[in-house]
Amino acid sequence: MSAIKYVVLVLLVLQTTCMVLIVRYTRTVKSEGPRYLPSTVVLLAEFVKFLSCLFVIFYQCGFHLRKFISEVKHGIFGNPLETIKISVPSGIYAFQNNLLFVALNYLDAPTYQVTYQLKILMTALFSTVVLRKRLSSTQWISLVLLMVGVALVQYPSEGTSVESAQSWSNRMFGVGSLLIACASSGFAGVYFEMLLKNSNISLWIRNIQMAIFGILFSGLTVAFTNWDIISKDGFFQGYSTPVLVVLLLQAYGGILVACVVQYTDNIIKGFATSLSIIVSTVVSYLIFNDMQPTRAFTIGTILVIGATFVYGLGSRGNTTNKSNGKER
Ligand code: C5P
Repeated sequence: MSAIKYVVLVLLVLQTTCMVLIVRYTRTVKSEGPRYLPSTVVLLAEFVKFLSCLFVIFYQCGFHLRKFISEVKHGIFGNPLETIKISVPSGIYAFQNNLLFVALNYLDAPTYQVTYQLKILMTALFSTVVLRKRLSSTQWISLVLLMVGVALVQYPSEGTSVESAQSWSNRMFGVGSLLIACASSGFAGVYFEMLLKNSNISLWIRNIQMAIFGILFSGLTVAFTNWDIISKDGFFQGYSTPVLVVLLLQAYGGILVACVVQYTDNIIKGFATSLSIIVSTVVSYLIFNDMQPTRAFTIGTILVIGATFVYGLGSRGNTTNKSNGKER
């Protein structure tokens, strides 16, 4: 593995951990005035991604304006079908990004992180269907262990059993949102991987295409879900420094995910997010004191992380079996 792969993976671990903790902080810490609207953050993050990728291409063109314009024009309009295909993962991600904010409203950071690992199972299922990847028996076993681990993490602790029905139903609502996000993450990730690796279109152009559709879909989400609140209290209601950090983490996290998929694959990306569970569990407990890790939680977490690693080891033979035949 070349150095760049390690760099993007380590950055992804840090990004995932910081994202969970800061979103959790911004959604739970009480402040005066209205809360910020996640849909506006998702929309602005798409703009930041779009401008950042344009800048990278400008840089690659040696800040030569004509060359830059022709490069971008060709990338977007040169092959319209390829551009339109990107609307599939982009639309799904726009939906998923909003859903994840909902989930974080109702769940503590560790539960969120561990349950969201089910997306690895979804990624595996969609990889077999869309990328026609074959999984070894070790990998399927590790996927079952993963599900057992997630179930254990969800097992209510003694403290939660006496909580009100309202709190339990909120938690289930959070878990339900997260399960839908797992399916969308798996499908969108695999579909994006297929588009990225089955064409000669650069990562930066692909990201620009993603961002164009992302702006469109996120803009529609803002208009249809939050228009009344925005007309009353403004687009930037509740914005603060931590919210801006979330916005940047969301934007550059998206670019990082694309880099990780380009240099490795969606499964290795799962490793990075699993590692971030350990970090965010410890940090979340220290900062928010919001969840005393129970024995079931600890065993579940160990199972999830262990299963993720075993899955990754079992995938070694398969990672060369990419749809475009390139060794990663
Ligand atoms: O949780 P998951 O790994 O599915 O999240 C992927 C994240 O990366 C999403 O927020 C998605 O919007 C983002 N992404 C992106 N650009 C890409 C690929 C993914 O912004 N090219």
